[in-house]
Amino acid sequence: MKTLIRIIFALVVLGLVALAAIIFVPPFLTKPDGTVAADWKPAAGEGQYATQMADCQACHTAEGGKPFAGGRAIESPMGTIWSSNITPDPKTGIGNWTYEQFHAALVDGIAPGGVHLYPAMPYENYRHLKEEDIRAIWDYVHNDVAAVDNPVKETKLAFPFDQRWGIRLWNWLALDKPGFHPDGKASESDALARGAYLVQALGHCAACHSPRDQFMAEDGKSVDDPAFLTGGEIDGWIAPDLRTAKSALQTWSDQDLKDYLTTGRNAHSAVTGEMQLVVGDSLQYMKDEDADAMVAYLRAISDAKPSPRPQPVANQRTTDRLDAADDPTTAKLKAAKDLSDGELLYLNNCSACHMPDGQGAPGVFPALAGNSLVTAATTKGLTEVILNGAAMPSTEKRPERLKMPAYADRLSNADIATLETFLRGAWGNSAPSVAEDDVKSVRP
Ligand code: HEC
Ligand code: HEC
Ligand code: HEC
Repeated sequence: MKTLIRIIFALVVLGLVALAAIIFVPPFLTKPDGTVAADWKPAAGEGQYATQMADCQACHTAEGGKPFAGGRAIESPMGTIWSSNITPDPKTGIGNWTYEQFHAALVDGIAPGGVHLYPAMPYENYRHLKEEDIRAIWDYVHNDVAAVDNPVKETKLAFPFDQRWGIRLWNWLALDKPGFHPDGKASESDALARGAYLVQALGHCAACHSPRDQFMAEDGKSVDDPAFLTGGEIDGWIAPDLRTAKSALQTWSDQDLKDYLTTGRNAHSAVTGEMQLVVGDSLQYMKDEDADAMVAYLRAISDAKPSPRPQPVANQRTTDRLDAADDPTTAKLKAAKDLSDGELLYLNNCSACHMPDGQGAPGVFPALAGNSLVTAATTKGLTEVILNGAAMPSTEKRPERLKMPAYADRLSNADIATLETFLRGAWGNSAPSVAEDDVKSVRP
């Protein structure tokens, strides 16, 4: 009995010591790796380009707000986290920071005074940035971005998530070695190494497209992890699988992938949701050789053997195309006899643009056949598009913001559930049906 009490006592003391160490010992900071000389300056435009590729602006700009002045609400499972003002304003931004402090925020998630940042700031990925890019980004946001006096709302999460020191434990579990280490496929050529770097570090694709493990850390940070880029979730939307034979890479050609990433649209799909900011603020500015490198890398690590889906032939008359279509859904819609409620809702509301064969029009109206948003495991994204409509981002190569109308006023929750159930089973799609309550939970 006595020994047991001693053991318990020892464990309690040890626990308290560990807790004290976590709270009081300053966190370990990764030092700049010294690969860049103190007087190094990025070439003209280099800092802006790295900042664009890292998409800092998307999160650090409020809707309708000044660039980088913060105040955007980032919804997390723990509550709303407000992004910081990272303009050079000395009072409300990071004007008084040193480079070392900026480095610590990006690589270790630590702000001056040892304050832990919430991982809504994707330092889990940025810790793989090369020293040169961190310096270039610093040079740009510190010298070229206009200072904006904009105090942002303070993030107030419920206990225990308001205890920022707790993030130190999470960091121990979640973070891997800093710096970029091309491995596997990435070591095979310079182009693949560049593609891997754009995907893993700058573009932080895994922040959304990798699943999360039981600690909410990215499950799959690099190719060696089988879960890497096999699909994640962000604010209830599915960020689709980009890797397996079930992913779009199976049916999209390399050109389709490149078009989607740089213009927000291709022969099959169009970008909506969070990915819209990724394309609109970041990927549309990708240099051609970087876009090719990213596509080559995504292709190299994918199990999908591309067998591009037959596409609508350019300039083919829609009537000819529909005459040639031989799937049962298209046949039923063309015959327009004994229609189910879902078929009727589709014909009355959607088929003028998305067409009776569900193929839309390449680059104009996305196909709903084989569309990952339509068949996603959860339907929040699909429901939001139907309720609120959507608009493609305006990109340099494709400036037209083609729009999908909103149906919130026209269709009831029951109608939308019926329509979604139809879409998820039409033209070869096979995803589970949707209940009225699923729609109700999304309608504001
Ligand atoms: C996915 C959204 C997201 C992206 C992308 C992002 N950030 Fe952040 N960042 C945040 C959020 C949210 C915070 C506030 C976190 C907190 O309060 O703990 C933050 C905090 C910071 C801070 C700390 C500021 C302070 O006053 O404490 C710096 C510096 C920063 N980010 C720089 C950057 C840079 C540079 C980039 C691009 C390389 C970037 N961020 C990209 C979301 C993002
Ligand atoms: C902030 C979260 C986020 C980040 C970061 C992000 N994505 Fe996405 N991505 C999404 C979401 C959400 C969708 C679904 C959009 C839709 O259905 O319209 C998506 C869709 C896609 C698609 C279309 C897939 C399909 O099946 O239709 C591709 C390809 C893609 N992303 C590639 C990338 C690449 C490459 C990167 C990194 C450079 C990246 N994404 C970064 C959230 C993100
Ligand atoms: C006036 C033409 C038009 C009509 C009518 C229309 N849409 Fe759309 N739809 C579009 C356009 C344009 C887009 C691309 C918008 C974007 O992705 O930002 C789109 C996008 C979508 C998407 C997202 C596709 C993707 O790849 O992410 C879905 C799903 C969708 N529509 C379903 C429907 C449904 C269901 C209806 C009927 C209730 C409908 N649409 C009616 C034009 C239309």
